[in-house]
Amino acid sequence: MNQSITARDYDSFRAFLEEACGIVLGDNKQYLVASRLNRLLKELDVSAVGELIEQLKKQPRSGLRERVIDAMTTNETFWFRDNHPYELLKDLILPELAKKKPTQLKIWSAASSSGQEPYSISMIFQEYLKSHPGSLTDRLQIVGTDISPTMLEMCRSGVYDALALSRGLSPERKKRFFQQEGDLWRVKDEVRNRVRFAELNLMNSYVSLGKFDIVFCRNVLIYFSSELKRDILRRISQTLAPGGYLFLGSTETIASYSDDFDTVRHKGGIVYQLKSPGSSPVTPRFPRAAAQRS
Ligand SMILES: C[S@@+](CC[C@H](N)C(=O)[O-])C[C@H]1O[C@@H](n2cnc3c(N)ncnc32)[C@H](O)[C@@H]1O
Repeated sequence: MNQSITARDYDSFRAFLEEACGIVLGDNKQYLVASRLNRLLKELDVSAVGELIEQLKKQPRSGLRERVIDAMTTNETFWFRDNHPYELLKDLILPELAKKKPTQLKIWSAASSSGQEPYSISMIFQEYLKSHPGSLTDRLQIVGTDISPTMLEMCRSGVYDALALSRGLSPERKKRFFQQEGDLWRVKDEVRNRVRFAELNLMNSYVSLGKFDIVFCRNVLIYFSSELKRDILRRISQTLAPGGYLFLGSTETIASYSDDFDTVRHKGGIVYQLKSPGSSPVTPRFPRAAAQRS
């Protein structure tokens, strides 16, 4: 199929994808488009990407657009990815929030893929409540959003196979937080119940989601243009409660995209904390990490 994507069709497809979901394809990714769309094209009995583009133009409301986006997303994820965000949550952020005695907390996993990220957050919270009984409200709501309906279906099922479970999950956590059902494992209700999922394109408004104490927006900005990164980070800062926290992926940085955050470092990990209005230089709100703030 690679050969069947003409330069003109490839350019049209790239333009469609960026306009629809922000994903920017490099100059020579015809092979990626071919392999990701292969199954959909067979199913639709469409022989070339050019024909698909024609159909997308002719039937804008047929659901085809959503199916193409779904096929083109990269959904790589695993439990407790990179470890640092979860260490930061456990060692710094949850104890800091506990001091403020909130009556409820809200965390957003903004590109939740198949659910490992929001469920890992929920497991950390569960462990924190157990090791610090009564110190923090148990009313935490985690909202997982993604553009991919296929991923959201997996998230909502909360069921994983042995391969998915083998990636990043310790045997203790597997035993503690999952129940086996044949060859599969289901996330236990105590972890699942505080997570809800919704479909959301990060290019659209976040206003209906409300305010969050912490946002995880990890390993998704890498696919977007600088302009879209800036826009998304600005709008995420507006969803954060004062002093709220933002986690990006370990290869992603806020530098040159936003001035709204201070950087907090801990055990090799980084989290960004929303600056309070007019705070310059920064007034430490986070005494243990203040010396490392930049
Ligand atoms: C590589 S995964 C990252 C998953 C998880 N955050 C992690 O770090 O392990 C990227 C996810 O971003 C989603 N995505 C891509 N473009 C998006 C958009 N415009 N709006 C919302 N989600 C998007 C994809 O569907 C995919 O599930």
